[in-house]
Amino acid sequence: MTFWLAPMEGLMDFSLREIVSRYGHIDLAVSEFVRVVDLPLPESVFLAQVPELAHGGITKYGTPIRVQLLGSDPEALLANAKTALAMGSHGVDFNFGCPSKTVNRHCGGAALLKEPDRIYNILHHIKSNLPANTSLSAKMRLGFDDTSKSLDVALAVAYAGFDTLVVHGRTKRQGYKPPADWEAIGKIKQAVRIKVIANGDIFTQDAYRRCLEVTGCTDVMIGRGAVYQPNLIAQLAHGDNPLAWQEILQLLLDYQNLMHFDGFPERHIPGRVKQWVKLLGAAHEQGTELFSDLKHLQDLNSVKKHIQNELSQYPIHSMLR
Ligand SMILES: Cc1cc2nc3c(=O)[nH]c(=O)nc-3n(C[C@H](O)[C@H](O)[C@H](O)COP(=O)(O)O)c2cc1C
Repeated sequence: MTFWLAPMEGLMDFSLREIVSRYGHIDLAVSEFVRVVDLPLPESVFLAQVPELAHGGITKYGTPIRVQLLGSDPEALLANAKTALAMGSHGVDFNFGCPSKTVNRHCGGAALLKEPDRIYNILHHIKSNLPANTSLSAKMRLGFDDTSKSLDVALAVAYAGFDTLVVHGRTKRQGYKPPADWEAIGKIKQAVRIKVIANGDIFTQDAYRRCLEVTGCTDVMIGRGAVYQPNLIAQLAHGDNPLAWQEILQLLLDYQNLMHFDGFPERHIPGRVKQWVKLLGAAHEQGTELFSDLKHLQDLNSVKKHIQNELSQYPIHSMLR
């Protein structure tokens, strides 16, 4: 039974990983993708996106980090995988699910799901040129427009010698439309002998149980659920109680302080906070209200003051349970 924290570009950054990993029970966190075109990137690019690499490749609370690479050039992916590993990344993950148009025009991310042979060639090249014990994973969606090639893609990853496959149970065309197709993940799990990690729509204890039942997997990756409830993985692994809204408000303040402390450019902090609050709206009524209050605020101080003000309406003892 393992829990991986999902990569979420523009959201699950160094500071949010620190907040989420406080609650423990995360076996591995995959970084936001590092985009690879055709050149080896300097270490500074990796450090900017994955600052944990300067601290043994773990968060402040000890969660190991794995760099995710996004691209299609086998040589460049290999060179950058070597850099990430030399810098302390706990294995390397390769992205075959990103739906972004710019990425797909350059034939990376989900676009490659149309070409399982190409995925095999890329991954086989990488696997054959790294030490045999390097832990390598790929993250796929079920397909681009439809699921007809999902098993071929999964087999390509397995035959290339990768040890783990994360499957987000949707095609690129489906975007994030619910529900995730856990049955399709189950079919992939039956078709390959490597570890298959189920991903998509695990937001509650009940969904977690059903996902394990339907997919036959024992391992899951959690994305948005850990944004709705930052201790969701501890809830699933250890029976922790859900966080109350006021505790989440406090985390929103901690997040801003951490980003500030970590040297994240101040002008971008309100955007990141709003991105989190917007997603909170999917799980908490108060999130929708808070987002509509915050969405026009541009500077960090106004965002912070608004959240502090909202938090001050809760009695202090409600934070001390
Ligand atoms: C804002 C956002 C950014 C994402 N960025 C990435 C990414 O960088 N790499 C990746 O492989 N998947 C990315 N994903 C997909 C998630 O890792 C995950 O597969 C998806 O959200 C489904 O899991 P969930 O239902 O637990 O959120 C992103 C998802 C969201 C919502």
